[in-house]
Amino acid sequence: MATKNAINGKPSSSTRDKKSLFIGLSLTTLLFIAIWYFSEPTMFSYPNIIYSSMLSLNRSHDPPEPTFYDDPELSYTIDKPMRNWDTKRRDWLKLHPTFSSSSSNPRVLLLTGSQPSPCSNPFGDSLLLRCFKNKVDYCRMHGYDIFYNNAFLNPKMKSFWAKISLVRAAMMAHPEVEWIWWMDSDAMFTDMEFKIPFERYSHHNFVVHGWPNLIYEKKSWVAVNAGIFLIRNCQWSMEFLDAWASMGPQSPDYKKWGQTLKSTFQDKMFPESDDQSALIYLLLKEKRKWGDMIYIENEYSLHGYWVGIVGKLDDISTKYVAISKKIRKLRRRRAEAVTESYGGLWAEYLEKIGGERKDSWRRPFITHFTGCQPCSGNHNPDYIGDSCWVGMEKALNFADNQVLRNFGFTHTHLENTSAISLPFDYPGGDDFEDLV
Ligand SMILES: *[C@@H]1O[C@H](CO)[C@@H](O)[C@H](O)[C@H]1NC(C)=O
Ligand SMILES: *[C@@H]1O[C@H](CO)[C@@H](O)[C@H](O)[C@H]1NC(C)=O
Repeated sequence: MATKNAINGKPSSSTRDKKSLFIGLSLTTLLFIAIWYFSEPTMFSYPNIIYSSMLSLNRSHDPPEPTFYDDPELSYTIDKPMRNWDTKRRDWLKLHPTFSSSSSNPRVLLLTGSQPSPCSNPFGDSLLLRCFKNKVDYCRMHGYDIFYNNAFLNPKMKSFWAKISLVRAAMMAHPEVEWIWWMDSDAMFTDMEFKIPFERYSHHNFVVHGWPNLIYEKKSWVAVNAGIFLIRNCQWSMEFLDAWASMGPQSPDYKKWGQTLKSTFQDKMFPESDDQSALIYLLLKEKRKWGDMIYIENEYSLHGYWVGIVGKLDDISTKYVAISKKIRKLRRRRAEAVTESYGGLWAEYLEKIGGERKDSWRRPFITHFTGCQPCSGNHNPDYIGDSCWVGMEKALNFADNQVLRNFGFTHTHLENTSAISLPFDYPGGDDFEDLV
């Protein structure tokens, strides 16, 4: 309105007073426009203010109304069954509305951990620290929370069973989180841009990497890998964890379960009941109750076996550099916070160079050093010499190159931990939009 008056407004009278009043008004108008113009960034950031306030959590207030936390009967431990968790969680979220999330952009908490004592492998602690750094990097880029546990929450549930007690406690500690993501300490992200397709799992409560034919036809204990999984924070999961843990070392039937699992899975050599065989057993024997809510993922490497990956990392790096030489948008500098938006861009170009085997040049999402035991150093004897440690070093630097790139640096080789700064528009190139 002010602008319009300044342009179209005509003095209705020729009297000096009215003219000066008009000039005065016009000056005020101009001044207003000037202030408005120069303060433009503040005024135009209005939508951003709304957006960021939607995302910001009110951490400074816990309403006095009672919640499940005030119920003395409720326990964080696996030995006491949880009932009506969905209602309890929903009631808590009603009292803490800034913490709810949408199904397309759910809140995620990544859990990982290691033993409380120092590693016996002399460089084990250093490897674990770098594997943890890798997970922190990934979570920061994607806006996820992360928790590292190094306490035994249940003295009987050690080694691979320990995660079940942790997941159970984390579900109660984080009612705002929709998905809990367990990842073994010896697994690392090797594609920092890739985002889990959560919308694909909207009708499932548990996601694990595996092959259905190995579960249902071959009955193999390596049909899935239980070292990495996603579990929804809901009542179903509470009951599922109870069923899963009932085959574990805190159960009086632990010995018996060892025999049952060994006879069910022909390729299982050791007699103890383990978490992975127990998981597959539930899929096989109680498909209606559990299996139908479990998503067996194999379209991307939610778990990638390191032996098949490490030897390809140099070639994969070369392919990605070759593509970014041709496609300017892929070598563009950017803020780390928008890294995720570049994940999908590579797929199209990888398809062009990969042809039929388009996935063979895709960065594996997660590389899992199964059997390497970095902390104890007692790796599987099949992995000769220092192949585990050389492999971890390469994979860690491969991943770290994707992180350092956003800080303007890179490692010179995958075996070299030192870094050099990257020139503008690295790696330069011909900039053909059409990759042949
Ligand atoms: C958090 O919520 C309380 C109670 O509703 C309110 O007084 C306070 O201003 C809120 N804080 C923020 C940062 O929104
Ligand atoms: C690692 O890279 C740095 C910087 O380029 C170089 O000076 C150093 O010699 C390299 N080390 C090895 C072992 O290649």
